[in-house]
Amino acid sequence: MKKTITICFTNNKGGSGKSTTCGNIGAAMARSGHKVLLIDGDMQMNLSLSFFPEDKVLEMSEGKNNLYYAVTGQKDLTSYIVRTSYENLDMIPSSSRMSSVEAELSRGRNREFILRKCLSGVKESGEYDYILIDAPPTLGNWVMNILCASDYVMVPVEASPWGMFGLANMFDFLNEAKEISPSLEILGIVVTKADLRKGYFKQTLETLKEMEGIYLFDSYIRVDSAVEWAQDNSAPVVEYKRSCRSAKEYIKLAEEVTERAGR
Ligand SMILES: Nc1ncnc2c1ncn2[C@@H]1O[C@H](COP(=O)(O)OP(=O)(O)O)[C@@H](O)[C@H]1O
Ligand SMILES: [Mg+2]
Repeated sequence: MKKTITICFTNNKGGSGKSTTCGNIGAAMARSGHKVLLIDGDMQMNLSLSFFPEDKVLEMSEGKNNLYYAVTGQKDLTSYIVRTSYENLDMIPSSSRMSSVEAELSRGRNREFILRKCLSGVKESGEYDYILIDAPPTLGNWVMNILCASDYVMVPVEASPWGMFGLANMFDFLNEAKEISPSLEILGIVVTKADLRKGYFKQTLETLKEMEGIYLFDSYIRVDSAVEWAQDNSAPVVEYKRSCRSAKEYIKLAEEVTERAGR
């Protein structure tokens, strides 16, 4: 039976490319034959919106078959999985109700391991090669749950001065998570929304390369308006326009991720 590898995407800075990166790596992995489950952990539902039209996302958000009910009810996640329109690619959608998940999961023993427990049935079934979890831009107990349910964490960083600000807090939090869940590994940082014409991009890369013990992915994702057109069409860019620059970059990044995460 195959071992399911779980990777989450976290950064407390909003707009750093977490949802875009999670969705596109997932779609690229699925295209290359891996069975992938995406979990939308953010009340903003951006990952859900990358695969389903707005009315469907609202319907899922208002219904009971979403992550909020699964996690707050401490249910096995298997029956909350929905199919996307792409082969090998399934999802557990989010809900706007996730806004209260932080408060609801903040009490009791093992409060960091609720998501891990809810996911154990899906992992043990061996149905998926990869589970990819998109995190919200926070550093509280819910993101701690996401980290403690994961084998690896990837940190998308926007190549901008404010994208770099606060990164130290992020890594302190990841180290705290590693103490609670020692099997968690930091897979690496990926630079997103890069503009090669700007000197600041080079400086960002240099700074990130100097971070001791943290892998910087060779592949970075450049600014590309096709990303936004794809999102407007409820599709990941690797499916919407496979020939465009960012799609090719995401396909390469997904290969690097599968190499580093071991499948
Ligand atoms: N490579 C890119 N080129 C252009 N725009 C991008 C790119 N990646 C992300 N974006 C845009 O940046 C915004 C933030 O990205 P998102 O993935 O939602 O970040 P996060 O999940 O970290 O908040 C979105 O509006 C998205 O369309
Ligand atoms: Mg997001």
